[in-house]
Amino acid sequence: MNTQPLISPEVLVPRLGEQLVEAGLLTADQLKQALEHQKHSTAAGKPILLGNAIIELGFLDRPTLDRAVTEQILRLRAALEDANRHLEQRVQQRTAELEEALRKLAELNQLKANFVANVSHELRTPLTHIRGYLELLHTQTLGPLTNEQIKAVEVALQSAFRLQNLIEDLILFSLAARGEMTLTLKVIDLRPIVENVSAHARSKAENRQITLETRIAPQVSFVRADQEKIRWVLTHLLDNAIKFTEPGGRVELKIAPFSENPGLVNVSVSDTGIGIPPERLQEIFEPFHQLDGSPTRKHGGTGLGLALVREIVEAHGSRIDVQSEVNRGTTFSFSLLSAKGDEIT
Ligand SMILES: Nc1ncnc2c1ncn2[C@@H]1O[C@H](COP(=O)(O)OP(=O)(O)O)[C@@H](O)[C@H]1O
Ligand SMILES: [Mg+2]
Repeated sequence: MNTQPLISPEVLVPRLGEQLVEAGLLTADQLKQALEHQKHSTAAGKPILLGNAIIELGFLDRPTLDRAVTEQILRLRAALEDANRHLEQRVQQRTAELEEALRKLAELNQLKANFVANVSHELRTPLTHIRGYLELLHTQTLGPLTNEQIKAVEVALQSAFRLQNLIEDLILFSLAARGEMTLTLKVIDLRPIVENVSAHARSKAENRQITLETRIAPQVSFVRADQEKIRWVLTHLLDNAIKFTEPGGRVELKIAPFSENPGLVNVSVSDTGIGIPPERLQEIFEPFHQLDGSPTRKHGGTGLGLALVREIVEAHGSRIDVQSEVNRGTTFSFSLLSAKGDEIT
């Protein structure tokens, strides 16, 4: 860090009076008198320059004063040039520092993405084994189990399943962070996807006494999209909607033609939940951001979901939109390109 004080031309060049005294052309006392004279003239409504006051008092003649003023102008110009040079140097230096900081940040981001990718891949293999053996136990391939043992294995399986989902999300996130997320765009039928996704969400909704509804307009079933990723987006938006809605509330997944453009299909997930304050609507899409970041928060999750939802929706050339009102509910929506069923590949 450069801690040199700021140098201004005023600091470098003494004022005319001081310069005249310094050069021995004027005594300190004469300067004082001239300043007094200038003050009086100004007060009397006849403002004069200090140089003129000195001449009027007969302390110096005009040519001497002109020489001193010229000299002062030259010094001032030199000081200005100096200050400019100095400033340019500082700007250059700061720019270089900023560029370096930016490079480091990009490197760190890359490291973070690599780290997340490596760790999640490393976690995936042992988890596959854990799940495999739990499944063998559960199907009683390795021998009969008591009812209690079956229950215990089921709980373990559920946890393993949750872990696996989390790891898949981390892998997807690290791919997106490295710009390596790829889409397989095909003409797909949304209907079975919606059915499948809502069947999974339904038990979660029922557990929380939330009504889950799905509505697909008959004419808009086919879109051009990545099936697995859209499934993921819908699963996640429903998961959030259920998670952030109090018991007794309602969650709706709706697929309808886009009113302004028949070539687009509008997909929306709305809830009657806790809502999001307007000033925080952007922040929820940042990776690892959760509005309740406190250790005592009641909802699980990593804060990665919406960041990935946005990545995926934008990779489809679309945008995710959110409308929300605190304590009234939230609607996330985006559009997809509609397609004809006979184009299906
Ligand atoms: N439907 C919703 N209603 C209210 N808040 C929501 C909703 N969806 C997301 N949020 C807010 O956005 C944050 C980020 O969401 P997300 O990225 O899915 O992370 P997570 O679900 O792991 O907390 C959530 O923690 C929550 O604060
Ligand atoms: Mg979430």
